[in-house]
Amino acid sequence: MSNTNFKRIEITIDNIPGDKSISHRAIILGSLAENSSAYSNFLFSEDCLNTFNIFRELRSDPTTITKNDANKTVFIKGLGLNGLSQAKKILDVGNSGTGIRLITGILASQLFDTEITGDSSIQKRPMKRIVDPLTQMGCSIKGQSLEGKNDIYPPLKITGISDGPTAIEYKMPVASAQVKSAILFASLFSRETTTIIEKKPSRNHTEIMLKAFGADITLNGNIITCSGKNPLVAPTQSTGENTLTIPSDFSSAAFFIVLALIRPNTKITLKNIGLNPTRATLIDVLKDMGAKINVIENEGNNIEPFGDIIVETSALKNITVDEKVIPFIIDEIPILAVAALFSEGTLKITNAEELRVKESDRIETTVAMIRAMGGEISEQPDGFELIGNNGCNKEFEVDSHGDHRIAMSAYIASKAGNELQPTINNSDCINTSFPTFLELLCQFS
Ligand code: S3P
Repeated sequence: MSNTNFKRIEITIDNIPGDKSISHRAIILGSLAENSSAYSNFLFSEDCLNTFNIFRELRSDPTTITKNDANKTVFIKGLGLNGLSQAKKILDVGNSGTGIRLITGILASQLFDTEITGDSSIQKRPMKRIVDPLTQMGCSIKGQSLEGKNDIYPPLKITGISDGPTAIEYKMPVASAQVKSAILFASLFSRETTTIIEKKPSRNHTEIMLKAFGADITLNGNIITCSGKNPLVAPTQSTGENTLTIPSDFSSAAFFIVLALIRPNTKITLKNIGLNPTRATLIDVLKDMGAKINVIENEGNNIEPFGDIIVETSALKNITVDEKVIPFIIDEIPILAVAALFSEGTLKITNAEELRVKESDRIETTVAMIRAMGGEISEQPDGFELIGNNGCNKEFEVDSHGDHRIAMSAYIASKAGNELQPTINNSDCINTSFPTFLELLCQFS
């Protein structure tokens, strides 16, 4: 089948689901606020619904947090900073690393004890990175060890703290928004000021939301300070309403951005996508590769920028990705590898060792996926080098290893390849972040 056999597709996609990072934080901050708030375009995926259920468990009256599945909205009665109650059971984040790390920052700062865990993949994800700073703040968290590893793993047993955490000054050893957020959330329960120094910036949704909720937070270059001096108040729109609309998830949109670039005869418009620069940097990387992408920022009531992204089929040339932007494209690297497979030249990813501790070892699973598709790729400790070969022209079999972003990347490659009959094993994990992915993908048949 030649390129001209791809029928022309020119469509608008206006239903990419809400942002995963912001949805988790909406449940957390909405619960800790003094007032009530609602969030539309909430992500109804397994990860975020687990966070919703956890915050239901942490209320004496679980009916004070509700959701409307049909219009994708959650309604949250704010309980104030001291309003959470002890859960009656072990809390379960499912597959969500963001869930467990963020929520542990809150739980470790409460008067009561809690146990929190997740699925078998979560039980292999490192938690020392949050346990260390939280322990320095006086919190008490005990986890599990794994043979041959020097880290701490869930289930985590958290003992309540009577006078709240103490303030610390913390130099971040890794660029991680999850770790930074766990510390910031704990600092909300302290009257003193905690200081976080980032070597490399990471995504900043927590800082933006805390500011919007009136927290005592300052941002000065790579230094963030925060304390619990101010009560949290969910912001009100200029219309007087306090329903916040969560932008659609850039990381989910990224799969369709790449599909439109590498599938011949294609042009798409993605509506209302989150454009926070610490999230949407893949656009700049792809433009450096020659991608035809236009962004139109929308005006509207929102605490984060959002807009429409217009993408059309482009001839791409691979590049060496600047290591400074890695934390801003950390979730998009598997789909960037698929784009690179359809491009000329060599894509080099370095300084991305954080990929090894995601839902899978994403360096290993990305390399295995690209090889299965017939691509030439070499694995390095902190990244990989991929020589583009203009596509993916064989039947292939890929195992997601329980990683949603690997499964979705494999589906995208198969849609843009020629006469492919892929076998993608273990793809149920797509439901953790993007339950409507396969439905939206059907539009490209
Ligand atoms: C997230 C931070 C990122 C990202 C994850 C979501 C967040 O992890 O991979 O999917 O919502 O804070 P890091 O902790 O590596 O920045």
